[in-house]
Amino acid sequence: SPVEVKKICCIGAGYVGGPTCAVIALKCPHIQVTIVDLNQSRIDAWNSEDFSLPIYEPGLDDVVKACRGRNLFFSTDVNKGIQEADLIFVSVNTPTKKNGVGAGYAADLNYIELATRQIAAVATSSKIVVEKSTVPCRTAESMRTILEANSKPNCRFDILSNPEFLAEGTAIDDLFNPDRVLIGSLQTPEGISACASLTAVYANWVAKERILNVGLWSSELTKLAANAMLAQRISSINALSAICEATGANIDEVAHAVGYDSRVGPKFLKASVGFGGSCFQKDILNLVYLSESLHLPEVAAYWRQVVEMNEYQKNRFSKRVVDTLFNTITGKRIAVLGFAFKADTGDTRESAAITLIKNFLNETAYVNVYDPKVPHEQIWQDLQEAIPNKPLETIQKQVTLSASAMDACLNAEAVVIATEWKEFKEIDWQTVYDSMKKPAFVFDGRLLVDADALRKIGFKVTSIGRGGV
Ligand code: UDX
Ligand code: UDX
Ligand code: ADP
Repeated sequence: SPVEVKKICCIGAGYVGGPTCAVIALKCPHIQVTIVDLNQSRIDAWNSEDFSLPIYEPGLDDVVKACRGRNLFFSTDVNKGIQEADLIFVSVNTPTKKNGVGAGYAADLNYIELATRQIAAVATSSKIVVEKSTVPCRTAESMRTILEANSKPNCRFDILSNPEFLAEGTAIDDLFNPDRVLIGSLQTPEGISACASLTAVYANWVAKERILNVGLWSSELTKLAANAMLAQRISSINALSAICEATGANIDEVAHAVGYDSRVGPKFLKASVGFGGSCFQKDILNLVYLSESLHLPEVAAYWRQVVEMNEYQKNRFSKRVVDTLFNTITGKRIAVLGFAFKADTGDTRESAAITLIKNFLNETAYVNVYDPKVPHEQIWQDLQEAIPNKPLETIQKQVTLSASAMDACLNAEAVVIATEWKEFKEIDWQTVYDSMKKPAFVFDGRLLVDADALRKIGFKVTSIGRGGV
């Protein structure tokens, strides 16, 4: 019969491991959950008395407040965490490889491998090892090979794949009410039994019919497929937005009407300045790499185009800014509102704002940036990485980090909305208008503001997927 899980260890206290295992602790008071990480300052932040957690996620602090010290613990003692647990989540980072074979496409599995080897080296009893990080297909198989080659007597390892589908900004809601929980296992008696153990953990708060049990490879591929298809919807709508701008059709009207078809559905059809985040691009490039490794170049080209369309959208939008500002922004001041890749997160990974600002700096404009959640050091770090050939001091001569949206817009010639923060909807646009150079331009990269209301004030407004000014 399946092992009853009493102690869980999660390796990796990041965006995935932290919220996921905090919610497990909340929903399963009878299970002890320990989240371990090598990064001391990250663990210190999780343990901080004033709950200044290392990631911003609405509702997360309440979850941590309810269970920290009760059945939820954060520690840098990875070995102890491994030894005590009967089930281990591996939620370490899997960045895109920067060098070597598959550079720019393939996932860097070094962190996964190191964590797996560590489990094999220090475990003294049997473990269920759960792959939680997004990884290319067949990683579970590599983990199994490493664990089996290093197993000791009375110490067996069962591998599960349990990809996480939470979105940043809504992580806690997504974890409380998931569309589905996906668990992949080998279809052997042992694999099925391990799967039952993990299913029982989720069954504490997730309805049984939403917990899907599939084979290992299906589970791993599903995560990549789900993200690729979501991103594909955005690239499709963004491709149509270019047609709308050229024809006078309105992308919001088109998306609304298309989404009314129950076969298509209304979600993820919001035209934008381009998708960002740690997952979409990375997972699609993984899929591209996988397809190429399997000698399926047409399949690879199909998915690669989703990412290329996204690059095109970002560059097309910045070009539209330049074109509209009489074909030059040299020496002009542009306010960029939002730096995070979406609202309600402080995360900037692959954020469209980075590409926009890089393009504006290339045109030798001045840029004021305001974001309610992204720390200033993070913005400097991202801009430096995006523009490696310019010293940071040069970038800092062109870029000012503002304390508010209002400050950012002062004396600017144009306002560019890059992130759909709610507070940008509630700006006192009349005051902004009065403080700007004239003609005052607004470029709405998120279809956030009421363009007609702004035009009444006097703004020249350009929105994604609509004719301009
Ligand atoms: C389509 C649209 O559905 C309809 O709204 C529009 O008005 C006309 O075009 P139709 O071509 O009649 O309708 O049939 P549809 O059911 O959409 O199927 C089109 C093709 O896609 C068929 O060859 C069908 O076998 C195939 N298909 C459909 C799949 O291969 N997989 C699917 O999941 C669905
Ligand atoms: C995504 C998936 O949604 C989630 O299931 C998976 O686990 C991780 O990747 P995330 O990247 O956190 O989550 O955010 P998501 O809400 O999917 O947004 C991704 C990007 O797409 C953002 O930049 C967002 O602004 C953009 N987006 C989203 C659009 O441009 N239009 C839309 O209609 C939806
Ligand atoms: P994700 O978005 O996938 O959660 P993050 O980068 O936010 O990725 O978090 C991954 C975490 O995993 C990092 O905090 C990193 O320090 C941690 N980590 C990586 N390798 C190990 C390891 N071998 N042992 C413990 N923690 C690790």
